[in-house]
Amino acid sequence: MASQNTPSVTITNLESAFAGESMAHIKYRYFAKLAREAGADDVAKIFEDTADQEVMHAFGHLDLLYPKAQLTPAKSLEIAIEGETYEYTEMYPKFRHLAVEEGNQAAVAEFDEQIAESKEHAENFKRTLEKAAKRFAALAKVEERHANHYRDALEALNAG
Ligand SMILES: [Fe+2]
Ligand SMILES: [Fe+2]
Repeated sequence: MASQNTPSVTITNLESAFAGESMAHIKYRYFAKLAREAGADDVAKIFEDTADQEVMHAFGHLDLLYPKAQLTPAKSLEIAIEGETYEYTEMYPKFRHLAVEEGNQAAVAEFDEQIAESKEHAENFKRTLEKAAKRFAALAKVEERHANHYRDALEALNAG
């Protein structure tokens, strides 16, 4: 058994597999776009069809990484805010710095664009979360009531 602090090797593998399937999806969509522009419709079609399947493979991994029973809309917004914030505060600034050092101006411009976009995404998610906070709080109360109800019923059953 893995301890609480060491991530399970299977969870780490699921994360890599999820990354791989996600990349395959986007890469095939990109290949399809170029193939279609080049007039190779049959090639575009097989990339598009396969890309759709890669999405399902990635979803399968996500089912295990973010189990449905634990993922409320509020929780998913929090995860998204965390990811986008990491991108614009740490990841892209670091990549930008290294691109400047290497003199890769195209990459610097690309990272600048992504810093702005990730910031905007994080802000949009935050706004959505704040707007829905009251609704989510009410939902959580209903869920808590249901959970208590089930617990009481179970206790009554066990006592009987
Ligand atoms: Fe796949
Ligand atoms: Fe984003």
